[in-house]
Amino acid sequence: MIDVGIDAAEIWTGKLKLDLAETFAPEKGDDPGKYTKGLGLYESSFPDTYEDIVTMGANASKRLMERNDLEPDDIGRIDVATESSFDNSKPISTYIAGCLEQTFDGDFHHANKGERKFACVAGTQAIDDAYNWIRAGRNRGRAAIVVATDTALYARGDPGEATQGAGAVAMLISEDPSLVTLSDEQGYGSADETDFLKPNQQFPSVDGKRSVQVYLARMREAVEDYESVAGEIHPDDFVYAPFHTPFPGMVRKAALLAYRHITRDTEIEEALAEQIGMQPREAEFDDEETFLDAVSDYTDELKETTRYQEWYEATIDPTLDIARHVGNWYTGSVHVARLAALKRAHEAGRDMTDERLFVASYGSGAQAEVHHETVQEGWKEEITQLNIDEQVEARYDLDFAEYETVHDAHDHSKDRDYEEFTAPDAEFVFDGWGRMGERK
Ligand code: HMG
Repeated sequence: MIDVGIDAAEIWTGKLKLDLAETFAPEKGDDPGKYTKGLGLYESSFPDTYEDIVTMGANASKRLMERNDLEPDDIGRIDVATESSFDNSKPISTYIAGCLEQTFDGDFHHANKGERKFACVAGTQAIDDAYNWIRAGRNRGRAAIVVATDTALYARGDPGEATQGAGAVAMLISEDPSLVTLSDEQGYGSADETDFLKPNQQFPSVDGKRSVQVYLARMREAVEDYESVAGEIHPDDFVYAPFHTPFPGMVRKAALLAYRHITRDTEIEEALAEQIGMQPREAEFDDEETFLDAVSDYTDELKETTRYQEWYEATIDPTLDIARHVGNWYTGSVHVARLAALKRAHEAGRDMTDERLFVASYGSGAQAEVHHETVQEGWKEEITQLNIDEQVEARYDLDFAEYETVHDAHDHSKDRDYEEFTAPDAEFVFDGWGRMGERK
């Protein structure tokens, strides 16, 4: 079987930032610690008024292609994962291909284009589609581009407002990739849920507290399903575990439960079995809240142990380095987490070749998917190319009134005619519906 996975990746952040502690918290009358310590978020990214999901995705893809000396003829498939689409007919990949054709020689007429939707897990699903296409031998030697691009906005005043964000991740999926190969083994936890949805509306209707429980429930099922095909997993099997990161505090909760599950400490499991009146691995509860209540004494204690804290610092914390400063990017979020971890390894001078990652994706509605990835020899060269730190640093710092203007500018029900906060630099810009131009 040929190895298939992610050959290269680029991140593009929206060019504006909202500082949650300095700008958002005072306006909401909140203690900044609610955001920085509770949610684990410092800043969120927003697109400038000339940016949107197309321009962010196209700009990331352009860099991805230029850096890898690719021409349209090398690409047989362009899939976009987004839950911020403005078009119910044409996939966003057609808009992105249209932009790219303005820059590269040739066209993408031969390429299969589509759009994947399942909330935030769609980015991973689009990678799967490309993986299957290559494995099936239908790619004729060509690679696929998968773009996860979102402007994650909530209605103003919604509790989710603090967890907004915007950006795109473009990934090249190919045979014999330089970055990571994907495992055949996958685990799923999937159920029809209504805690987060957007029926014919741009901003989500969210039951935030329940969405946290649904995330944890589906993730627990996915890990168990994965173990049923891949065998038992243990905390030291993986160097990093990137999770879908709506906000780092969510990952803190998910990681703690995952650790409890995979640590397989019989003494602890027996204590827990006594506490909840049954073996935790066989436990069935009416809902996640009952389960979480049942295990909370135990997980509260576990959280304070040195072994858990060391595992968390080493395996989870590095995956959050970028998310803390950009917020939720929906479909791109778990892919940002993977790159953040590899970036931290590179900065620490660690060799990651042949090491494993445990990747845990999630989308509301709801579905969790987990699999593992093996880091490839070319990973260091790939990670060195990322310029996300410079992009994050260069963002324009919005005051609260400007933030509200930007929120309005990206509200599909409102007029978009607003001033720009930054100057575009040889990149694709939004010039009106159906007109995405490259502005030099
Ligand atoms: P909230 O109710 O405003 O916040 O919204 P809270 O009062 O629950 O506080 C948040 C945390 O901060 C709590 O920590 C507080 O204790 C703590 P926890 O108890 O949870 O560990 N806190 C403080 N800590 C230190 N100092 C302080 C302080 N004050 C409070 N002074 C909520 C929280 C998550 C509900 C909200 O942000 C929300 O609705 N978010 C949107 C939904 C969401 O992100 N859900 C996550 C799971 S679903 C998912 O991931 C899918 C998604 O990405 C969409 C998709 O798939 O398409 C969202």
